[in-house]
Amino acid sequence: MRFSGKTIIITGAAGTIGKAVANAFYQEGANLALVDCNKEALERVCREEGWNERTLLLPSDVTDEKQVEEYVAKTVERFGAVDAFFNNAGITGNRKTIAEFDIEHFRKLMDINVTGIALGLKYVLQQMYRQGSGSVINTSSQKGKVFAKGSADYAASKSAVITLTKIAAMESAEKNVRVNCIMPGIVHSKMLVDVKRKGNPDLSVEEIGRSFGDSIPIGRWCEPEELAKAVMFLASDDASYITGAELHIDGGMTANSL
Ligand SMILES: NC(=O)c1ccc[n+]([C@@H]2O[C@H](COP(=O)([O-])OP(=O)(O)OC[C@H]3O[C@@H](n4cnc5c(N)ncnc54)[C@H](O)[C@@H]3O)[C@@H](O)[C@H]2O)c1
Repeated sequence: MRFSGKTIIITGAAGTIGKAVANAFYQEGANLALVDCNKEALERVCREEGWNERTLLLPSDVTDEKQVEEYVAKTVERFGAVDAFFNNAGITGNRKTIAEFDIEHFRKLMDINVTGIALGLKYVLQQMYRQGSGSVINTSSQKGKVFAKGSADYAASKSAVITLTKIAAMESAEKNVRVNCIMPGIVHSKMLVDVKRKGNPDLSVEEIGRSFGDSIPIGRWCEPEELAKAVMFLASDDASYITGAELHIDGGMTANSL
């Protein structure tokens, strides 16, 4: 198994993407340190997926510096090291134009999507520098690169994740620590299914997956398991010369827009 004896911290682990990534690493033998602010969801996912060994649940808020410091310390205490970090927790935007901004939502979004990523980087990088090795994968978004009206809050936060990734990569290279980000496009999630079914309750999941039409050259959305494979690649030694990169996992959406 590729990640036997290795430890990964995953934030947003109770969500669609975090869960799929955790599952993929668990199947490959990794120790899981799972962070999410929703304690009940975290416990439920762990139970449902049957992660009954090698798993540490760390209900924490990624915007709280003390809690971030603690989730890293508890991981090291239990497993001895942090080999990979999937810095992924995030929320979506309000779909308003800038002139209509709800500034309280903007502050909250920046706190989770940017400060949460920065705090995770701060404490995990300190640990990886002490170890002299590690791989970080931040979750940005295709929307952090290709802009659309009504998405300024989310796009600004995800552009910031790209910037944090590149500068962290430069600062970490000589310590043998790599930092990259993934740029997902449209991912199969319950939330998207519910949104699409509001207009048409009879739509099947397959029909919804194909309904994004021409905007995705591959012609369908991304399954979370497909993202997990990319995260595993970046975490592994197969990506030993890759740092500061944005990996687009979007079925060609970005290529289609530039
Ligand atoms: N789903 C998509 O289509 C898509 C596309 C591009 C990028 N992304 C990004 O992928 C990441 C994961 O998205 P998802 O689709 O799995 O979302 P999700 O809502 O299913 O999961 C997000 C998880 O993060 C947790 N979370 C939120 N705020 C937190 C906080 N302050 N502290 C700790 N945990 C917190 C939530 O409880 C939830 O379990 C996000 O950063 C999102 O912006 C998603």
